[in-house]
Amino acid sequence: MPQRRILVTSALPYANGAIHLGHLVEYIQTDIWVRFQRMQVNDDGSPVEVHYVGADDTHGTPVMLRAESEGLTPEQLIDRVWKEHDRDFKNFSVGFDNYYSTHSPENRALCEEIYGKLEQGGLITKRPVEQFYDPVKAMFLPDRFIKGQCPKCGAKDQYGDSCEVCGATYSPTELKNPYSTVSGAEPVRKSSGHHFFKLSDPRCEGFLRRYTQGDNHLQPEAANKMKEWLGEAGEGKLSDWDISRDAPYFGFPIPGTDEKKFFYVWLDAPVGYFASFTNHVRSKKLGDKLLQDFLRPGGNTEMVHFIGKDILYFHALFWPAMLEHAGFRTPTRVYAHGFLTVNGEKMSKSRGTFITANSYIEQGLNPEWLRYYYAAKLGPTMEDIDLNLDDFVARVNSDLIGKYVNIASRCAGFIEKKFGGKVQDPENWKDDAILLNIRSEGSEIAALYDHREFGKALRKIMEIADRINKLVDSDKPWELARQQGKEIALHSICTRALEAFRLLTLYLKPVLPLVAANVEHLLDIAPLKWSDIENPLSSKNNIGTYKHLMTRVDAKQIAALTEANQESLKLGAPAAKPAAAKTTGKAVETATAQAGHISIDDFSKIDLRVARIANAEHVEGADKLLKLTLDVGELGTKQVFAGIKSAYDPATLVGRLTVMVANLAPRKMKFGMSEGMVLAASGDAPGLFILSPDSGAQPGMRVK
Ligand code: 2FM
Ligand code: ZN
Repeated sequence: MPQRRILVTSALPYANGAIHLGHLVEYIQTDIWVRFQRMQVNDDGSPVEVHYVGADDTHGTPVMLRAESEGLTPEQLIDRVWKEHDRDFKNFSVGFDNYYSTHSPENRALCEEIYGKLEQGGLITKRPVEQFYDPVKAMFLPDRFIKGQCPKCGAKDQYGDSCEVCGATYSPTELKNPYSTVSGAEPVRKSSGHHFFKLSDPRCEGFLRRYTQGDNHLQPEAANKMKEWLGEAGEGKLSDWDISRDAPYFGFPIPGTDEKKFFYVWLDAPVGYFASFTNHVRSKKLGDKLLQDFLRPGGNTEMVHFIGKDILYFHALFWPAMLEHAGFRTPTRVYAHGFLTVNGEKMSKSRGTFITANSYIEQGLNPEWLRYYYAAKLGPTMEDIDLNLDDFVARVNSDLIGKYVNIASRCAGFIEKKFGGKVQDPENWKDDAILLNIRSEGSEIAALYDHREFGKALRKIMEIADRINKLVDSDKPWELARQQGKEIALHSICTRALEAFRLLTLYLKPVLPLVAANVEHLLDIAPLKWSDIENPLSSKNNIGTYKHLMTRVDAKQIAALTEANQESLKLGAPAAKPAAAKTTGKAVETATAQAGHISIDDFSKIDLRVARIANAEHVEGADKLLKLTLDVGELGTKQVFAGIKSAYDPATLVGRLTVMVANLAPRKMKFGMSEGMVLAASGDAPGLFILSPDSGAQPGMRVK
């Protein structure tokens, strides 16, 4: 086998939101594969060279509008989000060699070079495009910022591409009563000149047919999908790709255009892989030859992209075609994975299953539990994977604690206490059939990791753990330890179990890097490489004091996690939680349901008060919420999270009087305690309006 040199990437997350458990499927999958490769050596004994890079995907309209709504410049927003993403990746041991940004000088230079080459090659064309335009914001509207009534069933507030009520699909121009979700204004049609990458050019089409069908660049099911998208030769199914956007836009200006045109975010995003790698090489002074080897054709290196199946089109068509015709190397492999469901359903904020990486950490859950669980579910296909929370608890406890850690916890202590931390002389057990067998399974496990068959690899590893536990169960070291004259037998079983544990740790190391590091410390061994399969424990190692390697997951922790992630649909109210419904008065609901009326007693249970908004601020990581500090007179101050972010700039709220429900049970939300609810009006038309009392009302006054 030639020496392997691999550049690995995971998709770049957008810089306008938090990393959540859905994202982590991909980063964990990639990181496991990278860590596995890093444990390998080439035939000549040199380590396999792996560079793993990532970056934030910073450009585009959503980032621009998000920054504006937070009162920040896009640069300020992307700086903040970069730090959050970096923290999240470190917390989950996602070991990028470089984590960068698409808003970087390297990326701009590369985009300009690629665009310039495509233009020189006659692969850029310009033509006018008519699009929706928001006359109030003076900007063209991407489809996702247009809503209106479904042309089929008439449902209101549907997006421009499909109806969530009847499932119809259509184009934004077909929506009835369309409005801009940015300003609420009715959009108008307006034309402007756009730049296109000529994907329909026979050079591109010919290349893509060869590329997508040859050399295992894509998984079989992805290659088939591409066949569909490409259609038959001469069918003309590939359309040119619109790569420009009009100002205002947060992105790189297209060189050579006086009108303000920018590269579409999807043009510069994948180039961000190269930019991050370039920055990695230059900042660490690894030498420009590396750039040549990895970014230009003929370098005898691999480039492997891990992505979600939803962005296959960009990675399997646009990106390779762009690279091929701009003098760069093309991807060796594009590995697409499926989506994450939680408890069999799409992640949901109201169910509390839209869980951010940071809240998982803040609730005190161990990141390696999730790494293990995802690995156990992952395979090489694009099938979706389900995080079943009950199964998560059961599997982590049974496999990691009950099988794996259990071996060390039952045997390591005896080696330390009874045998001065020394294992039995390997002469006694070097031919032990059980151990030889475990070693021989290493190559099969390696092949499984290499082929991204992580689930199968872990099943195999747990079978080994089962065998060792059986051995320990039958030899019963804890009984041998109490008996005179059984020292050799005790030394033997504990040594063999510990050597098996070392091998299990080696096999699990790509998945559990932190546990593996602790085990390396416990066993007094150098960081494990795959070749250490043949490097058993010996008298050189001083086995240390056994400390717990991992605790069990408590189901209560999972309940707390979903609770903390439950974002109320009402204004700061704990809508989805039964306990809260009780507080607002079950009787109220029952009466309403039965007769359409409530009694005055029911109504008087609600303590409505005038409140002065003493402070209002954005909540990091919350899409809908503002954090309000309310002065409620005699009741003191209360903190409320209100879902009014889309309608109000916090600065304009400070000092205003409003009305709140003061006796709603306090509720621990993901972002802190919410101690009530602010009242606001909304209807079918866009807009949200908080209530104000007439002038003269004072904070704390009752509303009756
Ligand atoms: O779909 C996404 O989340 C994109 N931000 C992924 C970009 S991957 C690469 F092309 F940059
Ligand atoms: Zn509809």
